[in-house]
Amino acid sequence: MPKDWLEWHDLYNTEPKLQQRLEIVREYISYSLDNSPTGNIRVVSACAGDGRDLLGTLANHPRAKDVYARLIEINPQLVERGRATIESLGLTKQIDFINGDATAAVNYVGAVPADIVIVCGIFGNLADENELNRLLGNLSFLSKKGAFVLWTRGHSNGIAHSETVRKYFHEFGFEEVNFKLTATGDMGVGIHRYLGESLSVPKEQNLFVFSGVSNKAR
Ligand SMILES: C[S@@+](CC[C@H](N)C(=O)[O-])C[C@H]1O[C@@H](n2cnc3c(N)ncnc32)[C@H](O)[C@@H]1O
Repeated sequence: MPKDWLEWHDLYNTEPKLQQRLEIVREYISYSLDNSPTGNIRVVSACAGDGRDLLGTLANHPRAKDVYARLIEINPQLVERGRATIESLGLTKQIDFINGDATAAVNYVGAVPADIVIVCGIFGNLADENELNRLLGNLSFLSKKGAFVLWTRGHSNGIAHSETVRKYFHEFGFEEVNFKLTATGDMGVGIHRYLGESLSVPKEQNLFVFSGVSNKAR
């Protein structure tokens, strides 16, 4: 099992669950870009890893030139890798990869409200449903009205955690655009639309607490 989040990313080379998850996330990013109005598209990605979901999509997407994105990741090696990809794609003027804390509202200032909000690999690393609710509530700071919110949630011990996530999104007034399980059957990937009003000031400075450990493939 991986010792740290850099090692966790190596699982993308071998784990069908993660490979299928990535494919669906990229499909949803592509869909969101296709369905964004003409003009600039603002994207934020929290706990972005090495950014392969967004950057891998932009490599082949006709709207890449419209994207202004901020990715936030705490592991410096993953950020370095992501920045190298951004450079190779010629997107350095449009994409900021911050080495910092994605739980801190201050790190999103200037990049939100966004049209596309990527919160993949986070929900399985929250302590409990209260934390999930807190983060869903705080998405009103990150998201424009009508924004696409992309998320993942793995299942464990036969519990379909992604169903709980879908239920809470509904309660928070999000509209489900699509939801898929990976072919492995144990990873949910969703895309919702935020229908509420965007908040220009965050309700709290700490948007969530990331309490997960890397030795679980979530
Ligand atoms: C499960 S991985 C998901 C990475 C990426 N979103 C993906 O789906 O491939 C979780 C990531 O969150 C990062 N992380 C953990 N705590 C963080 C924090 N407070 N701020 C920013 N990133 C954090 C880890 O370093 C790790 O790269």
